[in-house]
Amino acid sequence: MSTTSMPVAFGIDIGGSGIKGAPVDLATGELTTDRLRIPTPTPSTPRAVAAVVEELTDSFELAPDVPVGLTFPAPIKHGVVPFIANLDQSWKGVDVPALMTEAIGRSVVGVNDADAAGYAETVYGAAKGVRGLVLVVTLGTGIGSALVADGTLVPNTELGHLEIDGHDAESRAADSAREREGLTWEQWAGRLQRYFETVEMLFSPDLIVVGGGVSKKAAKFLPLLDVRAPVVPAALRNEAGIVGAAALAAAQYR
Ligand code: BGC
Repeated sequence: MSTTSMPVAFGIDIGGSGIKGAPVDLATGELTTDRLRIPTPTPSTPRAVAAVVEELTDSFELAPDVPVGLTFPAPIKHGVVPFIANLDQSWKGVDVPALMTEAIGRSVVGVNDADAAGYAETVYGAAKGVRGLVLVVTLGTGIGSALVADGTLVPNTELGHLEIDGHDAESRAADSAREREGLTWEQWAGRLQRYFETVEMLFSPDLIVVGGGVSKKAAKFLPLLDVRAPVVPAALRNEAGIVGAAALAAAQYR
């Protein structure tokens, strides 16, 4: 398929609480229309989620050659989910792109959600043109990570599951922990401090980009952090997943 002139791709972001989708202008990284959000079904089985993805894509009039990319909140190793923390356990072993391609009747590219965000921030956002090592961390239901070395994504890092002080890091420092435990911004920032100082010690990033829905409120917690690397909010905020999935799908069609 010829694609270099393809201006639009469709991005879908599967999260622990919502499934969102929108067409993306590949030249600018902006959504071409408002995104649509449908709550993640409970239980979040492959069949139930695939039905929502079908409903979502059916709500947009997509030309047949528009690439479709989809994020998933787990590693995606050659299409397959090796383990999953925040959706139904029956996803383990499922080939996500194959399932979704069958559900919507068009080819779907699948990628880890934080990797999609990292790619979007590299192409369009806060990490654009940055040399060296960029660490993108998404704070949501879980903690996702993307490592980008000199503009190249190293996929499937799982730094939300570092064990810190005897805990799976995301269980203490994800935004869902802040909400679940009713933490103040200061209390949560204390946990983030411990998290970021650990990843900084391990990776010495040149830049840390913080994404996820809570990045809208970055002013409430980023100034409370004390790490050596600059820490900035994701330029694409919570849309980085949709944008990155769309852009990665378009790149794979080339
Ligand atoms: C998953 C990651 C994902 C992150 C954010 C973690 O629990 O293991 O793959 O990127 O949550 O959704």
